[in-house]
Amino acid sequence: MSGNQPRALKALVLSGGAGTRLRPFTHTSAKQLVPVANKPVLFYGLEAIAEAGITEVGIIVGDTAEEIREAVGDGSTFGLKVTYIPQTAPLGLAHAVLIAREYLGDDDFLMYLGDNFIGGGMTGLVDEFRARRPDAQVAVTRVADPRAFGVAELGPDGRVVALEEKPAEPRSDLALVGVYLFTAAVHEAVRAIEPSARGELEITHALQWLIDQRHDVRAGLLSGYWKDTGSVADMLEVNRAVLEQTEARVDGEVDAESELVGRVRIERGARVTGSRIVGPAVIGPDTVVSGSYVGPFTSISRDCRITDSEIEFSIVLDGSSVRGARRVHASIIGRNVEVTPAPRVAAAHRLVLGDHSKVQLP
Ligand code: DAU
Repeated sequence: MSGNQPRALKALVLSGGAGTRLRPFTHTSAKQLVPVANKPVLFYGLEAIAEAGITEVGIIVGDTAEEIREAVGDGSTFGLKVTYIPQTAPLGLAHAVLIAREYLGDDDFLMYLGDNFIGGGMTGLVDEFRARRPDAQVAVTRVADPRAFGVAELGPDGRVVALEEKPAEPRSDLALVGVYLFTAAVHEAVRAIEPSARGELEITHALQWLIDQRHDVRAGLLSGYWKDTGSVADMLEVNRAVLEQTEARVDGEVDAESELVGRVRIERGARVTGSRIVGPAVIGPDTVVSGSYVGPFTSISRDCRITDSEIEFSIVLDGSSVRGARRVHASIIGRNVEVTPAPRVAAAHRLVLGDHSKVQLP
């Protein structure tokens, strides 16, 4: 009987935007595709959406549309059916809803910010929404400093009574996480609001509009790990958290002069010679590590060369080489970068290098 069928629930994934805080990487690459433990951060979100039982996904894309399309394709590898929705400029989260109107129809939908990382997935939040079906549901989590986020104020019954975007003086410590659930009521709201001081159509304003119109807006509390991966420090932190869960596994080659300590994953085609790798760490496909120390919380992507170097708590993207560098710490190295030594030795280097950079260390 149709009454027993669960209501259709789509997902709207936001992967447009400019990503200025991750420059220089995001000049050439979408911030949603920066790898965490050698997998784009966006993929964790898409997997969690599939896990929550959603199959139809609209992805909002901007300047980096080509790269997102190339990485995600038609979504079938995730068990999803993906439709791309181009956004001409990052005019706000509510603007993304506005332009997705035709795709969404009158269906309920989950809106997910493609640069967020949610450790425990979204199934709990989706189930909560399906069970109660308020007009809208936000996800919140307690943070020490909420000023960089949307902030929600809750009433005693768990309803959201007020929302503010990046307030100078937050009225609670509940930050909005990038997972929202909406009924079709949101479409009227996104049409009713005006651009904010920063020139964006804010989803927080649309939610506030719903509250003011006496719609039922609820909050789901997220207690697991969550991170908005907007900065280099955040990326390193998410990488660390994901590597904590890594299982030791060797699909490549490790010679007798090398030592792997703790949870180290060596991917297919990778070669480790005369090196010490202390986990948690991952060495990507076809990468060669020789005569080097790779320390904890380090992800080296595919086709890299790490030679006579020391590197820890860092991310190295595809096709880069690091030779004779002692020691690289808390660094993100872009694609096809070359790090080479110059004659004298220094104690430590902290590097933030864009794709195709070439650096000579002192
Ligand atoms: O991460 C949680 C925070 O995300 C919330 O606490 C805030 O309330 C919410 O406004 C949002 O803040 P951000 O300033 O971090 O949003 P950002 O501009 O980074 O955009 C989030 C994602 O959405 C990112 O993957 C880019 C994409 N995006 C953004 C805009 C403004 C679009 O696809 N289109 C857009 O127009």
